[in-house]
Amino acid sequence: MNDVAAVVLAAGKGTRMKSAVAKVLHPLLGRPLLSYPLDACRQAGIGRIVAVVGHQAEEVEKALGAPDVLFALQAEQRGTGHAALCARSALQGFSGTAVLLCGDVPLLRPETLTALLDAHHRTGALATVLSMVPPDPRGYGRLVRDRAERLARIVEERDASEAEKAVREVNTGTYAVELPWLWGVLAGLSPANSQGEYYLTDVVAAAAAEDRAGSLLLGDPTEVMGINSRTHLAEAAGALRRRINEEWMEAGVTLEDPATTWIEPGVVLAPDVTIGPACRLAGATRVDAGALVEQGVVVTDSRIGPGAHIKPYCVFSGATVGAGAEVGPFAHLRPGAELGEASRVGNFVEMKKSRLGRGSKASHLTYLGDTEIGEKVNVGAGTITCNYDGAAKHRTVIGDGAFIGSNTSLVAPVTVGAGATVAAGSTVTQDVPEGALGVGRARQRNVAEWSARKAARKLGS
Ligand code: UD1
Ligand code: CA
Repeated sequence: MNDVAAVVLAAGKGTRMKSAVAKVLHPLLGRPLLSYPLDACRQAGIGRIVAVVGHQAEEVEKALGAPDVLFALQAEQRGTGHAALCARSALQGFSGTAVLLCGDVPLLRPETLTALLDAHHRTGALATVLSMVPPDPRGYGRLVRDRAERLARIVEERDASEAEKAVREVNTGTYAVELPWLWGVLAGLSPANSQGEYYLTDVVAAAAAEDRAGSLLLGDPTEVMGINSRTHLAEAAGALRRRINEEWMEAGVTLEDPATTWIEPGVVLAPDVTIGPACRLAGATRVDAGALVEQGVVVTDSRIGPGAHIKPYCVFSGATVGAGAEVGPFAHLRPGAELGEASRVGNFVEMKKSRLGRGSKASHLTYLGDTEIGEKVNVGAGTITCNYDGAAKHRTVIGDGAFIGSNTSLVAPVTVGAGATVAAGSTVTQDVPEGALGVGRARQRNVAEWSARKAARKLGS
Protein backbone atom coordinates (compact mmCIF):
# COMPACT_ATOMS: atom_id res chain seq x y z
CA MET A 1 0.00 0.00 0.00
CA ASN A 2 2.87 2.34 -0.77
CA ASP A 3 0.66 4.21 -3.20
CA VAL A 4 -1.98 4.88 -0.53
CA ALA A 5 -1.95 7.73 1.96
CA ALA A 6 -4.42 8.68 4.68
CA VAL A 7 -5.55 12.12 5.80
CA VAL A 8 -7.21 12.16 9.20
CA LEU A 9 -9.16 15.35 9.96
CA ALA A 10 -8.80 16.26 13.61
CA ALA A 11 -8.60 20.04 13.85
CA GLY A 12 -12.10 20.57 15.27
CA LYS A 13 -12.57 21.97 18.73
CA GLY A 14 -15.20 19.54 19.94
CA THR A 15 -17.23 22.25 21.69
CA ARG A 16 -19.85 19.81 22.92
CA MET A 17 -17.32 17.93 25.04
CA LYS A 18 -17.26 21.04 27.29
CA SER A 19 -13.65 20.32 28.11
CA ALA A 20 -10.28 22.00 28.50
CA VAL A 21 -8.85 18.93 26.77
CA ALA A 22 -8.99 18.65 22.97
CA LYS A 23 -11.74 16.25 21.92
CA VAL A 24 -9.40 13.88 20.10
CA LEU A 25 -7.27 13.46 23.25
CA HIS A 26 -10.09 12.20 25.44
CA PRO A 27 -9.20 8.65 26.48
CA LEU A 28 -11.11 5.68 25.26
CA LEU A 29 -10.05 2.42 26.93
CA GLY A 30 -6.80 4.06 27.99
CA ARG A 31 -5.85 5.59 24.63
CA PRO A 32 -6.56 8.95 23.05
CA LEU A 33 -9.56 8.97 20.73
CA LEU A 34 -7.45 9.96 17.72
CA SER A 35 -5.16 6.94 18.13
CA TYR A 36 -8.00 4.65 16.99
CA PRO A 37 -8.49 5.91 13.42
CA LEU A 38 -4.69 6.18 13.10
CA ASP A 39 -4.42 2.52 14.13
CA ALA A 40 -7.14 1.54 11.65
CA CYS A 41 -5.04 3.19 8.89
CA ARG A 42 -1.90 1.40 10.05
CA GLN A 43 -3.69 -1.94 10.27
CA ALA A 44 -5.05 -1.42 6.75
CA GLY A 45 -1.41 -1.20 5.69
CA ILE A 46 -1.51 2.47 4.73
CA GLY A 47 2.07 3.68 4.65
CA ARG A 48 1.73 7.45 4.92
CA ILE A 49 -0.59 9.00 7.44
CA VAL A 50 -1.22 12.73 7.84
CA ALA A 51 -3.20 14.04 10.81
CA VAL A 52 -4.64 17.53 10.34
CA VAL A 53 -4.68 19.21 13.75
CA GLY A 54 -5.64 22.70 14.84
CA HIS A 55 -7.22 23.05 18.24
CA GLN A 56 -4.42 22.42 20.82
CA ALA A 57 -2.26 21.16 17.95
CA GLU A 58 0.93 20.89 19.99
CA GLU A 59 -0.67 18.97 22.84
CA VAL A 60 -2.34 16.61 20.40
CA GLU A 61 0.90 15.88 18.56
CA LYS A 62 2.79 15.34 21.82
CA ALA A 63 0.16 13.18 23.50
CA LEU A 64 -0.10 10.93 20.49
CA GLY A 65 3.62 10.21 20.34
CA ALA A 66 3.24 8.75 16.86
CA PRO A 67 6.56 9.13 15.00
CA ASP A 68 5.12 7.51 11.87
CA VAL A 69 2.40 10.18 11.54
CA LEU A 70 2.92 13.53 9.79
CA PHE A 71 1.12 16.40 11.45
CA ALA A 72 -0.34 19.22 9.36
CA LEU A 73 -1.70 22.39 10.91
CA GLN A 74 -5.08 23.93 10.17
CA ALA A 75 -4.76 27.14 12.16
CA GLU A 76 -8.30 28.32 11.57
CA GLN A 77 -11.27 26.00 11.06
CA ARG A 78 -12.73 26.92 7.73
CA GLY A 79 -14.40 23.62 6.93
CA THR A 80 -13.56 20.02 6.07
CA GLY A 81 -12.43 20.92 2.52
CA HIS A 82 -10.00 23.50 3.87
CA ALA A 83 -8.78 20.99 6.49
CA ALA A 84 -8.02 18.39 3.81
CA LEU A 85 -6.15 21.01 1.76
CA CYS A 86 -3.90 21.64 4.78
CA ALA A 87 -2.43 18.15 4.23
CA ARG A 88 -1.18 19.12 0.79
CA SER A 89 2.39 20.09 1.65
CA ALA A 90 2.81 16.99 3.87
CA LEU A 91 1.96 14.91 0.78
CA GLN A 92 4.02 16.98 -1.66
CA GLY A 93 4.98 14.95 -4.70
CA PHE A 94 2.79 12.02 -3.73
CA SER A 95 0.51 10.62 -6.40
CA GLY A 96 -1.85 7.76 -5.72
CA THR A 97 -4.94 7.27 -3.60
CA ALA A 98 -5.71 9.05 -0.35
CA VAL A 99 -8.21 7.85 2.23
CA LEU A 100 -9.82 10.80 3.99
CA LEU A 101 -11.46 10.21 7.34
CA CYS A 102 -12.40 11.93 10.59
CA GLY A 103 -10.33 11.79 13.75
CA ASP A 104 -13.32 11.14 15.98
CA VAL A 105 -14.47 7.78 14.61
CA PRO A 106 -12.87 5.20 16.93
CA LEU A 107 -14.91 2.21 15.79
CA LEU A 108 -13.93 2.28 12.11
CA ARG A 109 -12.43 -1.09 11.15
CA PRO A 110 -9.31 -1.48 8.98
CA GLU A 111 -11.25 -3.98 6.84
CA THR A 112 -13.68 -1.19 5.95
CA LEU A 113 -10.86 1.04 4.70
CA THR A 114 -9.54 -1.87 2.64
CA ALA A 115 -13.00 -2.50 1.16
CA LEU A 116 -13.36 1.21 0.32
CA LEU A 117 -9.98 1.22 -1.44
CA ASP A 118 -10.87 -1.97 -3.33
CA ALA A 119 -14.16 -0.48 -4.56
CA HIS A 120 -12.40 2.76 -5.49
CA HIS A 121 -9.69 1.00 -7.51
CA ARG A 122 -12.09 -1.49 -9.10
CA THR A 123 -14.32 1.26 -10.52
CA GLY A 124 -11.48 3.61 -11.46
CA ALA A 125 -13.24 6.47 -9.66
CA LEU A 126 -11.65 9.82 -8.82
CA ALA A 127 -13.61 9.94 -5.56
CA THR A 128 -15.46 7.18 -3.71
CA VAL A 129 -17.53 7.98 -0.65
CA LEU A 130 -18.32 5.50 2.12
CA SER A 131 -22.06 5.83 2.70
CA MET A 132 -24.50 4.35 5.19
CA VAL A 133 -28.22 4.17 5.94
CA PRO A 134 -28.46 5.02 9.64
CA PRO A 135 -31.70 4.66 11.65
CA ASP A 136 -31.90 8.47 11.74
CA PRO A 137 -30.24 10.41 8.87
CA ARG A 138 -30.59 13.80 10.56
CA GLY A 139 -27.41 15.88 10.75
CA TYR A 140 -25.60 14.03 7.96
CA GLY A 141 -24.89 15.02 4.38
CA ARG A 142 -27.19 13.18 1.93
CA LEU A 143 -26.08 11.34 -1.22
CA VAL A 144 -27.92 12.88 -4.16
CA ARG A 145 -28.29 10.62 -7.22
CA ASP A 146 -29.45 11.30 -10.76
CA ARG A 147 -32.28 9.44 -12.52
CA ALA A 148 -29.90 6.68 -13.51
CA GLU A 149 -29.01 6.31 -9.78
CA ARG A 150 -25.50 7.65 -10.42
CA LEU A 151 -24.02 9.60 -7.56
CA ALA A 152 -24.18 13.31 -8.44
CA ARG A 153 -23.19 15.16 -5.26
CA ILE A 154 -23.50 15.37 -1.50
CA VAL A 155 -25.72 17.98 0.07
CA GLU A 156 -25.40 19.00 3.72
CA GLU A 157 -28.65 18.87 5.70
CA ARG A 158 -28.81 22.63 6.17
CA ASP A 159 -28.44 23.20 2.44
CA ALA A 160 -30.84 20.41 1.44
CA SER A 161 -34.31 20.68 -0.11
CA GLU A 162 -37.19 18.72 1.45
CA ALA A 163 -36.84 16.06 -1.25
CA GLU A 164 -33.10 15.76 -0.54
CA LYS A 165 -33.70 15.54 3.20
CA ALA A 166 -35.90 12.51 2.51
CA VAL A 167 -32.87 10.61 1.19
CA ARG A 168 -31.78 8.02 3.74
CA GLU A 169 -28.34 7.21 2.35
CA VAL A 170 -25.82 9.56 4.00
CA ASN A 171 -22.15 10.46 3.98
CA THR A 172 -20.01 8.79 6.69
CA GLY A 173 -17.26 11.41 6.18
CA THR A 174 -14.88 8.71 4.84
CA TYR A 175 -13.61 8.84 1.26
CA ALA A 176 -11.05 7.44 -1.15
CA VAL A 177 -9.76 10.09 -3.55
CA GLU A 178 -7.08 10.34 -6.26
CA LEU A 179 -4.07 12.60 -5.73
CA PRO A 180 -2.97 15.02 -7.02
CA TRP A 181 -6.42 15.52 -8.66
CA LEU A 182 -7.88 16.28 -5.19
CA TRP A 183 -5.60 19.29 -4.57
CA GLY A 184 -6.79 21.04 -7.71
CA VAL A 185 -10.44 20.52 -6.76
CA LEU A 186 -9.95 21.65 -3.16
CA ALA A 187 -8.07 24.77 -4.24
CA GLY A 188 -11.05 25.70 -6.43
CA LEU A 189 -13.79 25.17 -3.79
CA SER A 190 -16.18 27.96 -2.98
CA PRO A 191 -17.63 28.56 0.48
CA ALA A 192 -21.01 29.54 -1.01
CA ASN A 193 -23.13 27.52 1.40
CA SER A 194 -25.19 28.13 4.53
CA GLN A 195 -22.13 27.81 6.81
CA GLY A 196 -19.70 29.79 4.63
CA GLU A 197 -17.27 26.87 4.87
CA TYR A 198 -15.17 24.94 2.41
CA TYR A 199 -16.92 21.58 2.11
CA LEU A 200 -14.88 18.47 1.40
CA THR A 201 -18.14 16.91 0.22
CA ASP A 202 -18.08 19.13 -2.90
CA VAL A 203 -15.25 16.91 -4.17
CA VAL A 204 -17.90 14.30 -5.00
CA ALA A 205 -19.69 16.65 -7.43
CA ALA A 206 -16.34 17.43 -9.10
CA ALA A 207 -15.72 13.70 -9.63
CA ALA A 208 -19.31 13.20 -10.85
CA ALA A 209 -18.74 15.93 -13.45
CA GLU A 210 -16.12 13.60 -14.94
CA ASP A 211 -18.46 10.64 -14.47
CA ARG A 212 -16.02 9.15 -11.96
CA ALA A 213 -17.78 9.42 -8.58
CA GLY A 214 -18.51 6.23 -6.66
CA SER A 215 -19.88 5.06 -3.35
CA LEU A 216 -19.66 2.03 -1.10
CA LEU A 217 -22.48 1.30 1.33
CA LEU A 218 -21.30 0.41 4.84
CA GLY A 219 -23.35 -2.34 6.50
CA ASP A 220 -22.94 -1.35 10.15
CA PRO A 221 -23.46 2.39 10.80
CA THR A 222 -22.14 2.16 14.38
CA GLU A 223 -18.66 1.72 12.90
CA VAL A 224 -18.52 5.36 11.81
CA MET A 225 -20.18 6.79 14.89
CA GLY A 226 -18.56 10.17 15.53
CA ILE A 227 -17.80 11.35 19.06
CA ASN A 228 -19.24 14.79 19.79
CA SER A 229 -20.15 14.54 23.46
CA ARG A 230 -19.31 12.64 26.64
CA THR A 231 -22.41 10.53 26.06
CA HIS A 232 -21.04 9.49 22.66
CA LEU A 233 -17.67 8.76 24.27
CA ALA A 234 -19.26 6.39 26.77
CA GLU A 235 -21.31 4.71 24.02
CA ALA A 236 -18.21 4.20 21.90
CA ALA A 237 -16.31 2.83 24.90
CA GLY A 238 -19.12 0.33 25.44
CA ALA A 239 -19.09 -0.74 21.78
CA LEU A 240 -15.31 -1.08 21.79
CA ARG A 241 -15.43 -3.05 25.05
CA ARG A 242 -17.98 -5.49 23.58
CA ARG A 243 -15.90 -5.89 20.43
CA ILE A 244 -12.69 -6.62 22.38
CA ASN A 245 -14.47 -8.95 24.82
CA GLU A 246 -16.06 -10.94 22.00
CA GLU A 247 -12.67 -11.35 20.33
CA TRP A 248 -11.16 -12.74 23.54
CA MET A 249 -14.06 -15.11 24.12
CA GLU A 250 -13.65 -16.33 20.52
CA ALA A 251 -9.96 -16.87 21.32
CA GLY A 252 -10.76 -19.15 24.27
CA VAL A 253 -10.94 -16.80 27.24
CA THR A 254 -13.81 -17.11 29.74
CA LEU A 255 -15.34 -13.78 30.75
CA GLU A 256 -17.81 -14.49 33.53
CA ASP A 257 -19.58 -11.16 33.05
CA PRO A 258 -18.48 -9.48 29.80
CA ALA A 259 -20.85 -6.56 30.44
CA THR A 260 -18.65 -5.39 33.33
CA THR A 261 -15.22 -6.45 32.04
CA TRP A 262 -12.87 -3.81 30.64
CA ILE A 263 -9.91 -5.03 28.63
CA GLU A 264 -7.77 -2.38 26.97
CA PRO A 265 -6.56 -2.90 23.40
CA GLY A 266 -2.92 -3.56 24.38
CA VAL A 267 -3.73 -6.48 26.71
CA VAL A 268 -2.85 -10.06 25.74
CA LEU A 269 -4.71 -13.06 27.16
CA ALA A 270 -3.91 -16.74 26.67
CA PRO A 271 -6.52 -19.43 26.12
CA ASP A 272 -8.22 -20.81 29.25
CA VAL A 273 -7.77 -17.63 31.20
CA THR A 274 -10.85 -16.88 33.32
CA ILE A 275 -11.76 -13.29 34.18
CA GLY A 276 -14.39 -12.61 36.85
CA PRO A 277 -16.92 -9.77 36.92
CA ALA A 278 -15.92 -6.09 37.10
CA CYS A 279 -12.23 -6.53 36.34
CA ARG A 280 -10.15 -3.95 34.45
CA LEU A 281 -7.09 -5.14 32.55
CA ALA A 282 -5.09 -2.19 31.29
CA GLY A 283 -1.90 -1.14 29.53
CA ALA A 284 0.57 -3.80 28.45
CA THR A 285 -0.87 -6.50 30.71
CA ARG A 286 -0.42 -10.14 29.82
CA VAL A 287 -2.21 -13.09 31.41
CA ASP A 288 -0.95 -16.62 30.75
CA ALA A 289 -2.86 -19.84 30.19
CA GLY A 290 -5.14 -21.16 32.90
CA ALA A 291 -4.85 -18.12 35.18
CA LEU A 292 -7.94 -17.25 37.18
CA VAL A 293 -8.59 -13.58 37.92
CA GLU A 294 -11.55 -13.19 40.25
CA GLN A 295 -13.98 -10.33 40.70
CA GLY A 296 -12.99 -6.66 40.89
CA VAL A 297 -9.28 -7.01 40.11
CA VAL A 298 -7.57 -4.00 38.45
CA VAL A 299 -4.36 -4.86 36.59
CA THR A 300 -2.15 -2.37 34.75
CA ASP A 301 1.10 -3.14 32.86
CA SER A 302 1.52 -6.45 34.69
CA ARG A 303 2.23 -10.07 33.87
CA ILE A 304 0.21 -12.87 35.44
CA GLY A 305 1.81 -16.28 34.99
CA PRO A 306 0.22 -19.57 33.96
CA GLY A 307 -2.24 -21.04 36.42
CA ALA A 308 -1.94 -18.14 38.86
CA HIS A 309 -4.97 -17.45 41.01
CA ILE A 310 -5.83 -13.83 41.75
CA LYS A 311 -8.55 -13.54 44.37
CA PRO A 312 -11.05 -10.65 44.46
CA TYR A 313 -10.24 -6.94 44.69
CA CYS A 314 -6.51 -6.88 44.08
CA VAL A 315 -4.76 -3.93 42.42
CA PHE A 316 -1.58 -4.56 40.38
CA SER A 317 0.58 -2.09 38.53
CA GLY A 318 3.90 -3.01 36.93
CA ALA A 319 3.92 -6.36 38.78
CA THR A 320 4.92 -9.88 37.78
CA VAL A 321 3.13 -12.90 39.25
CA GLY A 322 4.78 -16.28 38.72
CA ALA A 323 3.23 -19.55 37.62
CA GLY A 324 0.73 -21.00 40.06
CA ALA A 325 1.08 -18.14 42.55
CA GLU A 326 -1.90 -17.17 44.71
CA VAL A 327 -2.63 -13.53 45.44
CA GLY A 328 -5.28 -11.73 47.47
CA PRO A 329 -7.97 -10.98 48.24
CA PHE A 330 -7.16 -7.27 48.68
CA ALA A 331 -3.47 -7.30 47.73
CA HIS A 332 -1.66 -4.29 46.27
CA LEU A 333 1.26 -5.06 43.97
CA ARG A 334 3.09 -1.93 42.88
CA PRO A 335 5.83 -1.45 40.26
CA GLY A 336 8.65 -3.96 40.58
CA ALA A 337 6.71 -6.47 42.68
CA GLU A 338 7.81 -9.92 41.51
CA LEU A 339 6.18 -13.05 42.85
CA GLY A 340 7.98 -16.33 42.25
CA GLU A 341 6.41 -19.58 41.18
CA ALA A 342 3.87 -21.01 43.66
CA SER A 343 4.38 -18.13 46.08
CA ARG A 344 1.52 -16.69 48.05
CA VAL A 345 0.55 -13.15 48.96
CA GLY A 346 -2.55 -12.73 51.09
CA ASN A 347 -4.92 -10.01 52.17
CA PHE A 348 -3.77 -6.47 52.91
CA VAL A 349 -0.26 -7.07 51.67
CA GLU A 350 1.48 -4.29 49.73
CA MET A 351 4.63 -4.91 47.71
CA LYS A 352 6.87 -2.51 45.82
CA LYS A 353 10.22 -3.21 44.08
CA SER A 354 10.37 -6.51 45.94
CA ARG A 355 10.91 -10.10 44.97
CA LEU A 356 9.28 -13.00 46.75
CA GLY A 357 11.04 -16.24 45.85
CA ARG A 358 9.53 -19.52 44.80
CA GLY A 359 7.15 -21.05 47.34
CA SER A 360 7.51 -18.14 49.79
CA LYS A 361 4.52 -16.67 51.61
CA ALA A 362 3.44 -13.31 52.96
CA SER A 363 -0.12 -14.10 53.92
CA HIS A 364 -1.44 -11.21 55.97
CA LEU A 365 -1.13 -7.46 56.63
CA THR A 366 2.38 -6.80 55.39
CA TYR A 367 4.43 -4.13 53.62
CA LEU A 368 7.43 -5.25 51.59
CA GLY A 369 9.41 -2.47 49.88
CA ASP A 370 12.87 -2.77 48.26
CA THR A 371 13.11 -6.34 49.50
CA GLU A 372 14.75 -9.47 48.15
CA ILE A 373 13.21 -12.64 49.60
CA GLY A 374 14.55 -16.10 48.80
CA GLU A 375 12.67 -19.37 48.40
CA LYS A 376 10.35 -21.00 50.96
CA VAL A 377 10.41 -18.03 53.30
CA ASN A 378 7.51 -17.41 55.66
CA VAL A 379 6.80 -13.76 56.30
CA GLY A 380 4.51 -13.54 59.32
CA ALA A 381 1.42 -11.39 59.71
CA GLY A 382 2.07 -7.71 60.20
CA THR A 383 5.66 -7.68 58.97
CA ILE A 384 6.87 -4.27 57.84
CA THR A 385 10.05 -3.44 55.97
CA CYS A 386 11.09 0.03 57.12
CA ASN A 387 12.74 0.89 53.80
CA TYR A 388 12.69 4.68 54.06
CA ASP A 389 14.63 6.72 56.60
CA GLY A 390 13.20 10.03 55.52
CA ALA A 391 15.98 10.67 53.03
CA ALA A 392 16.79 7.48 51.13
CA LYS A 393 15.40 4.02 50.43
CA HIS A 394 17.27 0.95 51.70
CA ARG A 395 17.12 -2.74 50.94
CA THR A 396 16.09 -5.71 53.03
CA VAL A 397 17.43 -9.15 52.11
CA ILE A 398 15.92 -12.37 53.48
CA GLY A 399 17.60 -15.69 52.67
CA ASP A 400 16.04 -19.01 51.63
CA GLY A 401 13.97 -20.82 54.24
CA ALA A 402 13.99 -17.97 56.77
CA PHE A 403 11.05 -17.48 59.12
CA ILE A 404 9.97 -13.95 59.99
CA GLY A 405 7.70 -13.96 63.08
CA SER A 406 4.56 -11.90 63.15
CA ASN A 407 4.66 -8.19 63.84
CA THR A 408 8.29 -7.75 62.89
CA SER A 409 9.81 -4.47 61.74
CA LEU A 410 12.85 -4.91 59.53
CA VAL A 411 14.78 -1.64 59.62
CA ALA A 412 16.71 -1.47 56.33
CA PRO A 413 19.41 -1.87 55.29
CA VAL A 414 19.29 -5.27 56.95
CA THR A 415 19.86 -8.91 56.06
CA VAL A 416 18.27 -12.02 57.56
CA GLY A 417 20.37 -15.06 56.60
CA ALA A 418 19.12 -18.28 55.10
CA GLY A 419 17.30 -20.54 57.56
CA ALA A 420 17.31 -17.83 60.26
CA THR A 421 14.31 -17.10 62.48
CA VAL A 422 13.18 -13.71 63.69
CA ALA A 423 11.11 -13.79 66.86
CA ALA A 424 7.64 -12.33 66.69
CA GLY A 425 7.39 -8.68 67.63
CA SER A 426 11.02 -7.94 66.87
CA THR A 427 12.40 -4.68 65.63
CA VAL A 428 15.38 -5.89 63.62
CA THR A 429 18.12 -3.30 63.23
CA GLN A 430 21.12 -5.64 62.89
CA ASP A 431 21.73 -8.48 60.46
CA VAL A 432 20.60 -11.94 61.62
CA PRO A 433 23.21 -14.55 60.63
CA GLU A 434 22.33 -17.70 58.73
CA GLY A 435 20.53 -20.23 60.92
CA ALA A 436 20.42 -17.89 63.97
CA LEU A 437 17.48 -16.69 66.01
CA GLY A 438 17.12 -12.93 66.09
CA VAL A 439 15.15 -11.50 68.99
CA GLY A 440 14.76 -7.75 69.05
CA ARG A 441 12.19 -6.94 71.71
CA ALA A 442 11.97 -6.27 75.46
CA ARG A 443 12.10 -9.42 77.62
CA GLN A 444 8.74 -10.32 79.15
CA ARG A 445 8.32 -9.99 82.93
CA ASN A 446 5.34 -11.52 84.82
CA VAL A 447 4.05 -10.06 88.07
CA ALA A 448 2.56 -12.88 90.15
CA GLU A 449 -0.98 -12.52 91.54
CA TRP A 450 -1.28 -9.05 90.14
CA SER A 451 -5.03 -9.35 89.46
CA ALA A 452 -5.94 -10.36 92.98
CA ARG A 453 -3.86 -7.53 94.47
CA LYS A 454 -5.53 -5.05 92.12
CA ALA A 455 -8.99 -6.23 93.22
CA ALA A 456 -8.04 -5.93 96.90
CA ARG A 457 -6.81 -2.37 96.34
CA LYS A 458 -10.15 -1.47 94.78
CA LEU A 459 -12.15 -2.83 97.76
CA GLY A 460 -10.04 -0.90 100.24
CA SER A 461 -10.50 2.47 98.53
C1 UD1 B 1 -19.29 16.11 7.82
C2 UD1 B 1 -19.75 16.06 6.36
C3 UD1 B 1 -21.11 15.36 6.29
C4 UD1 B 1 -21.02 13.99 6.90
C5 UD1 B 1 -20.49 14.08 8.33
C6 UD1 B 1 -20.22 12.71 8.88
C7 UD1 B 1 -18.81 18.08 5.36
C8 UD1 B 1 -19.09 19.42 4.84
N1 UD1 B 1 -19.84 17.39 5.84
O1 UD1 B 1 -20.21 16.93 8.49
O2 UD1 B 1 -21.54 15.26 4.93
O3 UD1 B 1 -22.31 13.39 6.90
O4 UD1 B 1 -19.25 14.80 8.36
O5 UD1 B 1 -19.89 12.81 10.24
O6 UD1 B 1 -17.69 17.62 5.31
N2 UD1 B 1 -12.71 19.34 10.79
C9 UD1 B 1 -11.48 19.96 10.71
N3 UD1 B 1 -11.43 21.25 10.32
C10 UD1 B 1 -12.55 21.97 9.99
C11 UD1 B 1 -13.79 21.33 10.10
C12 UD1 B 1 -13.85 20.01 10.49
O7 UD1 B 1 -10.46 19.36 10.98
O8 UD1 B 1 -12.40 23.14 9.64
C13 UD1 B 1 -12.74 17.93 11.20
C14 UD1 B 1 -13.43 17.73 12.52
O9 UD1 B 1 -12.49 17.77 13.59
C15 UD1 B 1 -14.04 16.34 12.36
C16 UD1 B 1 -14.30 16.22 10.87
O10 UD1 B 1 -13.50 17.21 10.26
O11 UD1 B 1 -13.17 15.33 12.74
C17 UD1 B 1 -15.76 16.41 10.49
O12 UD1 B 1 -16.16 17.69 10.87
P1 UD1 B 1 -17.61 18.00 11.38
O13 UD1 B 1 -17.74 19.42 11.68
O14 UD1 B 1 -17.98 17.02 12.43
O15 UD1 B 1 -18.44 17.68 10.05
P2 UD1 B 1 -19.99 17.61 9.94
O16 UD1 B 1 -20.52 18.97 9.86
O17 UD1 B 1 -20.52 16.71 10.96
CA1 CA C 1 -19.66 15.49 12.83
